[in-house]
Amino acid sequence: MTTPKALVAGNWKMNGLKASAAEISKLNDLVSENGANCDVLICPPFTLISTLIQLEAQNVAIGAQDCHMNMNGAHTGDISAEMIKELGCNHIIVGHSERRADHGETSECVNAKAAAAQSVGAIAIICVGETIDEREAGKALEVVTSQVKASIPSDATAENTIIAYEPVWAIGTGKVPTAADVEEVHKAVRDVLTACFGSAGAEINILYGGSVKASNAYELMSVANVNGALVGGASLKADDFFGIISVYDQID
Ligand code: PGA
Repeated sequence: MTTPKALVAGNWKMNGLKASAAEISKLNDLVSENGANCDVLICPPFTLISTLIQLEAQNVAIGAQDCHMNMNGAHTGDISAEMIKELGCNHIIVGHSERRADHGETSECVNAKAAAAQSVGAIAIICVGETIDEREAGKALEVVTSQVKASIPSDATAENTIIAYEPVWAIGTGKVPTAADVEEVHKAVRDVLTACFGSAGAEINILYGGSVKASNAYELMSVANVNGALVGGASLKADDFFGIISVYDQID
């Protein structure tokens, strides 16, 4: 198989109303006019998926922020991978640290959600990352590698899986790890992926997330084994997000 392109993915979290469609149209135009040397994805709240897909903004894929581990049944308020796929999404984020913290999602639960996403032909973007206490205790690598091992389904390939390393303390805080720290964690994740999946593990994209902005994106995206970004705050405005996408003009 061909190595996947780098991916710059936006996670709108619980932000956006119908008027936000204008940002997707603008982003689509920016990519049409200037090109993009990476794939571009926005994951809006569930309520906006249909609206944004109907824009047919062909340069911007639309994905989801979560799914249930089951396909249907008595799960009030939940949304299944099959429902998301039917809308036309090919990417589903699972195991974001805000879901792990706010909804008590364990890595076993995240693994089941990733498997549900993969079973409908979607790509699971599996999030992992240490807290500040874990980093200060020298446990970042241990925490992240054990989350990857427990959260990734056993038949993962580059066609159905992406990992996003997001240190919890860097999310929404403006703090970012040093390039050396990012490199160390991404290398450890790569080693787990190749140990578990051989050559397929070498092809799985590993995104960095946590306070990525246009001003720091070049440095972060240039690190070995960083194959794209998962972006929260800076994905809400097309101009800011395009500033991150365009650093790939300078990266092979
Ligand atoms: P941030 O969020 O870019 O606002 O730090 C990243 C994320 O949570 O995916």
